[in-house]
Amino acid sequence: MSVNISPESFSPPFHFKGVRFFPAADRRAVELAESFEVRDDDVFVSAYAKSGTTWVQQIVSLLSTEGDLSEVNKVPIFVRVPWFETMDMSGTGEPLPKILKDAPSPRLLKTHLPYRLLPKDAREGTGKIIYCARNVKDVVVSWHKMREGFKFIPSGTFDENFQEFINPEQAAFGFWWDVVPEYWRHKDDNNVLFLKFEDLKRDLRGNVVKIANFLGKTLSDQRIDEVVANCTFSAMKNNDATNFSRDEAFKDHRKDGFEFMRKGKVGDWKNSLSPEQSKILDDINREKMAGVDLSFEFE
Ligand code: PPS
Repeated sequence: MSVNISPESFSPPFHFKGVRFFPAADRRAVELAESFEVRDDDVFVSAYAKSGTTWVQQIVSLLSTEGDLSEVNKVPIFVRVPWFETMDMSGTGEPLPKILKDAPSPRLLKTHLPYRLLPKDAREGTGKIIYCARNVKDVVVSWHKMREGFKFIPSGTFDENFQEFINPEQAAFGFWWDVVPEYWRHKDDNNVLFLKFEDLKRDLRGNVVKIANFLGKTLSDQRIDEVVANCTFSAMKNNDATNFSRDEAFKDHRKDGFEFMRKGKVGDWKNSLSPEQSKILDDINREKMAGVDLSFEFE
């Protein structure tokens, strides 16, 4: 598939069912999501933006690869695991769900959709959903850096972007404290695997094996080792196919110096959040996560 990333691929932010969508989400694609016919072997890699989406896309893609892993690893990740709720980037201008109807199986799909906006079939148990969540403080910083770095994503100052993030009507792809607990409530569904970025950091191999088991893949230890070696932060940073800062297709859409594979750490928020901002997030966490048995490591 050739890639045609025109400025039209990036529509301005829009609201759908109370959720504010940012580029490159496409309204028609978001509207088509609900009725999209899901197949048993479809895999949705879902995450709140900046929470490890690309990392899990890479893991799932390599685990699903039959044959030469190094060849597949050269294909851009957004081609191997396209972003479901966007415009097709092969130049048709069509919303991706429409194009995907005729795509061969297995279809691996990235999404930032809140659970309630996923295809009905997926919510009813068809296909698989792998969700990756990350501590909210690192998410808010990583999201700001992304907004600063890509020309097509509107951005304010760090404080302005922070204020949007904590506003349920303005937060991109939904309010973190709605979206993440909603996925968490479905963590025990048969077709859902719930992961945490911080766990992947601590034990990448263990999580690659967990994902392989969930996908029903039986791979040799050596093959698992190869997948892991291609999913480390440094491997993905040095790979044009997984690092949007190096991909030629995005050349005109990013600002100089932008680093997509930025730090990949747990606790980097300490370098950006003021004590007041950190406290605001602690306070919201205390209120919104009360009664939700989900916690995160922040350092
Ligand atoms: S996006 O644009 O919303 O899809 O971004 P997403 O892929 O969800 O998140 C990007 C952040 O994930 C980090 N990342 C990794 N960290 C550790 N190891 C690996 N392999 C890895 N791959 C991606 C990436 O660096 C972004 O985090 P920050 O904190 O900005 O570095």
